Amino acid sequence: MSWRSISIARFGGPEVLQMVEHATVPPPGPGAVRIKVLAAGTGFTDTFIRRGRYPDFKGPLPFTPGYELVGVIEAIGPEVTERQVGELVADLCVVGGYAQYAVRPAWMLVPVPDGLDPAVAVCIPLAYLTAFQMLTRVATLRRGATILVNGASGSVGTAFLDLARHLGLKAIGTCSAEHTRLVEGYGAIALDYRAVDFVARVRQFSAERPAGGVDAAFDAIGGAHFALSFACLAPGGLLVGYGSQSMAVGAEGMLSAALGLARLKLYSALSFLFAGRRAAWFSITDRRVVHPEQFRTDMARLFALLAAGAIHPVVVDRLPLSDAAAVHARIDRGGLGGKIVLLPWAEAASQCARTKASTGSLTDVSSVL
Ligand SMILES: NC(=O)c1ccc[n+]([C@@H]2O[C@H](COP(=O)([O-])OP(=O)(O)OC[C@H]3O[C@@H](n4cnc5c(N)ncnc54)[C@H](OP(=O)(O)O)[C@@H]3O)[C@@H](O)[C@H]2O)c1
Repeated sequence: MSWRSISIARFGGPEVLQMVEHATVPPPGPGAVRIKVLAAGTGFTDTFIRRGRYPDFKGPLPFTPGYELVGVIEAIGPEVTERQVGELVADLCVVGGYAQYAVRPAWMLVPVPDGLDPAVAVCIPLAYLTAFQMLTRVATLRRGATILVNGASGSVGTAFLDLARHLGLKAIGTCSAEHTRLVEGYGAIALDYRAVDFVARVRQFSAERPAGGVDAAFDAIGGAHFALSFACLAPGGLLVGYGSQSMAVGAEGMLSAALGLARLKLYSALSFLFAGRRAAWFSITDRRVVHPEQFRTDMARLFALLAAGAIHPVVVDRLPLSDAAAVHARIDRGGLGGKIVLLPWAEAASQCARTKASTGSLTDVSSVL
């Protein structure tokens, strides 16, 4: 049976995303399973990888992009004992999600509770887990603490705001003017980073404290921007850097991004000079390697919160695989305010539905999904 995936044969703009047809379905090898992908998350990090600037993945080419997926296990390879055929699972795969099938190591998969919409569940592995681990594993924040979220209107930013509300934290979020209502919708204070001096405004909003400032700041803009976020901290506060967005889009060079990382180390080493203000770097994939048990526990906690209706990921669009290049162009333009999810079987379903309409056949479309 033939199937489709998106392939990148050279780094570059959205046009490098090309649809590829495969003649046979891949069998899973030892320790692996074959997943029928029902939903593939898209996001800024996929575009970072596509440009060839992402430090943790540089190929080999060609490869299938897609940092996260949710799907059903369809076949199990030798030596797999912990997973079963028919199980709905989520995977933080880094690459490989934009496909109808993915063959993945079984030990990396996390079960998704029955009844969850795959397109919503796929918002958990990257955006929500990243925000959740920084809020609960890296920072130790009491209820009522104040946080600063840079890039608050993005996938990770809105996950921060949603979780902050759930955890009883006060949030201040930077975003562009068109997204202030989105950010305020989470009960956060929105600051338009293009129009105001957000450092001065953050200190103004937290002026009830002796020296002003927030308990924790989260920053993926990176480079020189880390200094601005650090300046927003109250004494004893923590800056968590988790991205180099300026470098990813070419607004800053590699050197500036590297200096940003050096800055985080310096702040921590010389914390005593900064009234106990500290800094740390966070990477979801690095943390999974060091603390795989936390990865599984936290994913399970987030899926439980999702199932209980306690958190609300924003899916702005659900589109077929053939729209992958157009989706990347939209992410590159910025301002999505949530996640676009690719549904790899959507075209097959609509084709099947069209055939049924034209032939009057009673083929069940749901069997395709
Ligand atoms: N370390 C990790 O483990 C990890 C995990 C996941 C993601 N990340 C990183 O996190 C970052 C965000 O990812 P995402 O998927 O949330 O991206 P996204 O959905 O594209 O959101 C990025 C947001 O950044 C905002 N922005 C751009 N320049 C800004 C500035 N100077 N100040 C404040 N906000 C600014 C934009 O807001 P407006 O549209 O409102 O201007 C946009 O909504 C990326 O760098 C990604 O690589 C890191």
